[in-house]
Amino acid sequence: MLILTKISHLETFLSQKRSQGSIIGFVPTMGALHEGHISLIKASKNVTDVTVCSIFVNPTQFNDKKDLERYPKTPEKDVMMLEKAGCDAVFMPDAEEIYPEIDERRFDFGYLDKILEGAHRPGHFNGVAQVVSILFNLVKPDKAFFGQKDYQQVMIIKALVKQLHYPIEIVPCPILREKDGLAMSSRNTLLTPDERKAASLIPIVMNEVNELSRKGTEIPELKKHIEERLKDPIYKIDYFAVCDADTLKELNSFSEAKYHVALIACFVGKIRLIDNIILH
Ligand code: PAJ
Repeated sequence: MLILTKISHLETFLSQKRSQGSIIGFVPTMGALHEGHISLIKASKNVTDVTVCSIFVNPTQFNDKKDLERYPKTPEKDVMMLEKAGCDAVFMPDAEEIYPEIDERRFDFGYLDKILEGAHRPGHFNGVAQVVSILFNLVKPDKAFFGQKDYQQVMIIKALVKQLHYPIEIVPCPILREKDGLAMSSRNTLLTPDERKAASLIPIVMNEVNELSRKGTEIPELKKHIEERLKDPIYKIDYFAVCDADTLKELNSFSEAKYHVALIACFVGKIRLIDNIILH
């Protein structure tokens, strides 16, 4: 596996591959890799000729400085995991390489960037759009792979691709979970053992929401259920919402949409975790 830190080296590698007619797959990440990330590498390898992963902790998408400072970094382990998964190249630039000047661009995704993560993490999706557009410009992949764990992010990326007319296919991939159901996340490593135990209640209550909705429980009651189940002070619910799975419009009643997704952001101690479940 090639380890590239400079744009010029990335471009040399890619133009060589493209001249051979290779289909390029791209998996952008912020490192501290886990099996969830590796599942995206595998998904890319299944349908492309060359898989490129990027590792870049993008400062512009962190609205909370402390969150950026404590974001886990495990570069050696990341490289080993990518190598083992059969990734062809990893691009690990420093901040000056990606942002030679301050990126002043402001994106507007309408309703989509003003709700849920957009409302609770101001500027977050603008930062995501900045870095992903830069990475797309550099890698020019045929296909790019994103996890459904960040459900809203996938929709933002699809909107970005439409807005900027990128000839890139966005491939959403399923959420990978730990044995106890907790969605894999780089942030899980920041939890204390007690918080880690407490965190496993999040997927449990999300599955309860699915069960209850099947039995006809309406959305306001589901919200009460979540509040009741996560009332211990170790939890702080940032939001819980049931939305139209296609548009992410927030719903008050299931009758307002055909497909439904429940989304949660919840602090466990100081660590903010997100999860979602398609209801059926
Ligand atoms: P990061 O949080 O490192 O995630 C990189 C990719 O891995 C994202 O597409 C995310 O949805 C996916 N992922 C994370 N946990 C997953 C899990 N448990 N199962 C499946 N996929 C999972 O998302 C970002 O980085 C950044 O915002 C980025 C897109 C790289 C832009 O900076």
